[in-house]
Amino acid sequence: MKIIERRELKPKPAAGTPLGFGKYFTDYMFTMRYTREKGWHDARVEPNEPVAFDLATCVFHYAQGVFEGMKAFRRADGTISVFRPDRNWERMNNSADRMCIPRFPAELAEEGLETLLRLERDWIPSEPETALYIRPAIVATRVMLGVHASTEYLFFILLSPVGSYYARGLQPTKLLVEEFYSRSSLGGTGEAKCLGNYAASIKSGEIAEEMGFDQVLWLDSAEKKYVEEAGSMNVFFVFRGEVATPALVGSILPGITRASCLQLLADAGYPVSERRITMEEVAQAAESGALSEMFGTGTAAVVSPVGAFRYRGKDHVVNGGKIGELTARLYATLTGIQRGALPDVHGWNKLLR
Ligand code: COI
Repeated sequence: MKIIERRELKPKPAAGTPLGFGKYFTDYMFTMRYTREKGWHDARVEPNEPVAFDLATCVFHYAQGVFEGMKAFRRADGTISVFRPDRNWERMNNSADRMCIPRFPAELAEEGLETLLRLERDWIPSEPETALYIRPAIVATRVMLGVHASTEYLFFILLSPVGSYYARGLQPTKLLVEEFYSRSSLGGTGEAKCLGNYAASIKSGEIAEEMGFDQVLWLDSAEKKYVEEAGSMNVFFVFRGEVATPALVGSILPGITRASCLQLLADAGYPVSERRITMEEVAQAAESGALSEMFGTGTAAVVSPVGAFRYRGKDHVVNGGKIGELTARLYATLTGIQRGALPDVHGWNKLLR
């Protein structure tokens, strides 16, 4: 793989600096380009520096683009591992299909990521709750204003050392159930990780934050009846021993942390269901005490407890606003596997050679 060296390296955040989420970026990035004539080509690791684009570049107008999120960890013995990258490449290609972006060879993306990580290994933090966040993306780069699929694309991978996604770490979050706006609808792009889904969510997110909530909880667009996801995380509920999460009906992101948690819960013998869950059921269960825990899952969010939600103007508290026992156990198991402290029986970690 071609590597273009940079003259000066950036200062790295000192150990113990609160990293936040997506604030620091490393020295290098991976890029490759697509044209109809050449397919995916010109794969290289190059300095992560500003790139100039013509303002008529189609991604700026019609958002033809997709992205991913994964994490690399530094273990106590110094080994570097990446969590389930194969699943992210697969999902990224599925998102690309939905957005009429040509599929890319996962092996090439993986080789690019590994070359990048070897070069940037000193940026990978080791403190608890930190990781190196990996942000691959593909954007349409043809200069044109016709509403058609681009014939040119840029694939890139950025790296960012991060702490907890939520400023308050593992403190339970507060969700506002969104009863007006929709994130996605059946036949829409909800199950693709595409740029527009996130743009469409910002207004609700701002309103929720102004009201003191961390995020919104989306309902289905047709009836505003069924729980979907929270935008940056899938959601799980613990109802009297049954762990339930919304079924992937087509408008929900098929989370890789979601799938991993379903597997871990099954391994531990919990009855788990993927089914349609009405918001009414959740609110009633919170009222009656049948909802003992609620949490979100995602690459950035990991396993995040939900301590309260507002639905139809009424506030509901979950588990006294504290992190639940199962949520805490799931967080510890998942992060233990990711950091090499627990056995990786499913072979999820890809170790960097
Ligand atoms: C992730 O968890 O990686 C996400 O992409 C969610 C959000 C930060 C956009």
